[in-house]
Amino acid sequence: MDDNFHFVKSISKENFGVPEQIHGIKVANLCVRLAEFIECEINKEDLYLAALIHDIGLGKIDRDIINKSGELDIDEREMVNTHSAHSAEICEEIGFSEEIINTVLYHHENSDGTGYPEGRNSIEIPLGAKILRICDVFVALTSDRPYRGKFSILEAIEVMDEFNENFDSWLFEEFKKMINKDGFI
Ligand SMILES: [Fe+2]
Ligand SMILES: [Fe+2]
Repeated sequence: MDDNFHFVKSISKENFGVPEQIHGIKVANLCVRLAEFIECEINKEDLYLAALIHDIGLGKIDRDIINKSGELDIDEREMVNTHSAHSAEICEEIGFSEEIINTVLYHHENSDGTGYPEGRNSIEIPLGAKILRICDVFVALTSDRPYRGKFSILEAIEVMDEFNENFDSWLFEEFKKMINKDGFI
């Protein structure tokens, strides 16, 4: 896992800085915990690596948009939403496995079909991407942002409950059981 961290630092561009790298590490650790909690067969090394670099495509997007404190307009939102495809392209260029590429590509797909880039339905979204979707949102909510302070664990779960149609319902219930049991380390 340490090697992976050095690797991600080595491929990170100036636009993908330390905060994004830390976000990736937190999400990656949580993803592996969830995969272990549900005792699934998924390749945990691949999942860790995919989660570590899932947002690396943000490096290709204008920094002013990423750091904007107000609401994004439609064009800006569309621009930001290209990041998962950019991340997947980078994974492809590096020669990562298809599993890693797809986990990264679909990490903003919602189980009700409202996500991006393809608006996939729940059964079309790979398990790794579903795990990443939940852990990514949770870590984002429990972290400080330029425009808001971090939410507590309970507050974050409450927020996620409000738009739980984004998540695989079984997996989200398992995630909550895991957090209730072991907290968020
Ligand atoms: Fe993302
Ligand atoms: Fe993320």
